[in-house]
Amino acid sequence: MNRHDAVIETLFSEETIAARVAELGRAVRDAGFGPDPIVIAILKGGFVFAADLIRSLHRAGLQPEVDFMSLSSYGAGTTSAGEIRVLRDSDADVRGRKVLIVDDILESGRTLLFARQMMQARGAAEVGVVVCLDKKGHRRVDLEAEFVGFDCPDRFVVGYGMDMGHGFRELPFIGYVANAG
Ligand code: IMP
Ligand code: MG
Repeated sequence: MNRHDAVIETLFSEETIAARVAELGRAVRDAGFGPDPIVIAILKGGFVFAADLIRSLHRAGLQPEVDFMSLSSYGAGTTSAGEIRVLRDSDADVRGRKVLIVDDILESGRTLLFARQMMQARGAAEVGVVVCLDKKGHRRVDLEAEFVGFDCPDRFVVGYGMDMGHGFRELPFIGYVANAG
């Protein structure tokens, strides 16, 4: 489908997301991740959420450092083959530090399990996973996030950093394509 023909239904509005991200910042602080956690944003999908989250952490009184890691599931198509590739690594020195791994969606859990194990292997003192959306019931590995924005309905969602065929990342809200297939 041409993306200009797509009808996007809103699942979580800008206002709803902003209110929840503010709560998450305070929850991260209250869980003891201050004063200066290292935020590792997982690219590409996690960058919009991470950008809002670091400002929420600031408002909650924290001084996060920020770095990025680009990961992708190995193989083509929409179903993950189960192998994770590092497309761009973080060069943050996480030894002895509190680390927050930030991503858009937790689904099978493979991406975030990989990232968590990587940070632990590099000597992080504590690792917390923060996701905007949780697709429960799709887990293939033993990984749960410490901080979740919203439970995600069983749909393919777009916007707020999340894409369908490289499009829709720029939408300021989270929605789904109502007239797809
Ligand atoms: P997993 O937990 O390793 O299966 O990977 C989850 C990743 O799959 C997310 O970070 C997204 O990049 C992608 N993903 C899963 N569901 C959706 C969706 O509904 N819309 C857009 N991307 C999705
Ligand atoms: Mg992703």
